[in-house]
Amino acid sequence: MQIAIDGPASAGKSTIAKIIADKLNYIYTDTGAMYRAVTWLAWQKQVDFGNENQITDLIQKIPINFRILKGQQRIFVGDTDVSEAIRTPFITNNVSQVSSLPLVRQLMVEQQRQIAQNNNVVMDGRDIGTTVLPQADVKIFMVASVHERAKRRYQENLTRGITTSLTELETEIAARDYKDSHRQTSPLKKAADAIEIDTTSLNIDQVVQKILKIIHFKTNK
Ligand code: DC
Repeated sequence: MQIAIDGPASAGKSTIAKIIADKLNYIYTDTGAMYRAVTWLAWQKQVDFGNENQITDLIQKIPINFRILKGQQRIFVGDTDVSEAIRTPFITNNVSQVSSLPLVRQLMVEQQRQIAQNNNVVMDGRDIGTTVLPQADVKIFMVASVHERAKRRYQENLTRGITTSLTELETEIAARDYKDSHRQTSPLKKAADAIEIDTTSLNIDQVVQKILKIIHFKTNK
């Protein structure tokens, strides 16, 4: 069973996808975390974020994978747990450049398909319904206004001890939307058969219930 959840930055995809995966006892795959991990790796090795060949060499030598530690999913680059390190504003502001490199995407998509081949998954990202799993059983496209998403990111940052101004976050989110939807390879785009959910005025539970209903309707689960 494959559930694809796509949408722009900070639309609440990962929060919702995690809850749905828990409820259905499926594996949750945060594909954005994979591109963030690649960005972290390039930064650690001081490779330019535009250097496609060197970055793909690095990924082939140092694997990126998910592991469960104390019931929590963590992401590793080699043997380093980078789950927190990939959430800094520096990585957030540079990940669009790295994730636009076609060879990097090719390697990540292969790995994502492999995960989905061996497990029931809820996978979130930008191109899951269009490119990674075009045959997914259920495709959701989550959207929310830039202002609402900036407010959510602001709260999330506060819990991590990071203070950013709301206006700055709005500008960053709008810029990332633009980059994610205008890149050449697999841009952020709603799949023709995806169901769009605008979460601007919905709380987490309302979104979860909506998606569970869609899953039930489409798959009888
Ligand atoms: O969901 P996120 O903010 O953690 O994603 C980080 C970046 O990775 C985002 O700017 C777009 C990119 N991304 C992508 O290109 N394709 C995906 N399937 C997931 C994320």
